[in-house]
Amino acid sequence: MHDPTPRPQRGGWHGPLEVLIDEATLAARVQQLGAEITAAYAGRDLCLIGVLKGSFMFFADLVRAIHLPVTCEFIGISSYGNDTRSSGIVRITHDLQRSIEGQDVLLVEDIVDSGLSMRYLLDNFATRRPRSVGACALLKKPSNMQVEVKVDHVGFSIPDHFVVGYGLDSRGILRNVPFVGVMPPAAP
Ligand code: IMP
Ligand code: MG
Repeated sequence: MHDPTPRPQRGGWHGPLEVLIDEATLAARVQQLGAEITAAYAGRDLCLIGVLKGSFMFFADLVRAIHLPVTCEFIGISSYGNDTRSSGIVRITHDLQRSIEGQDVLLVEDIVDSGLSMRYLLDNFATRRPRSVGACALLKKPSNMQVEVKVDHVGFSIPDHFVVGYGLDSRGILRNVPFVGVMPPAAP
């Protein structure tokens, strides 16, 4: 597991972000998750569904660490509410382009915070009659869970800080930071 102790600030074009999970630790954990998923679905085909936009970088790395016949689909969602907290009201901005009926499906999310988005997606997908629906998230903030949601494969459990990088954004930017960093608290 990663060392959760924040390292010294890495000042760069992205500003003063604290490194929470560095690139090497991310890469190693993604390989482990890929092996875990490969074993869990051995002998089966798998339909991976990336939740846009936040999962795009994790998805691209994870899919290469899964050694099974996979198909790749994407669903876009946006959650009404303010910038750092989910309202639980989820809007589908880009729906799947084909049926998932009868398939083993694995949702790939960047982060599960309150769990409201993942709960919504799992319930929505269940109505499409797949063979199974699993959930994988790179990050999970266990202290903030508001609903019961089982995430079958979790990369890292992290403290309740707002994080950016490796696909995760703050107001649309910082997705291209190659590590997971912590936003410093806003000035009063
Ligand atoms: P939930 O519905 O509260 O579980 O929130 C899930 C969604 O909120 C994630 O898919 C992210 O898009 C966003 N989110 C939650 N926490 C963070 C964070 O720390 N950084 C960036 N986005 C976040
Ligand atoms: Mg998201």
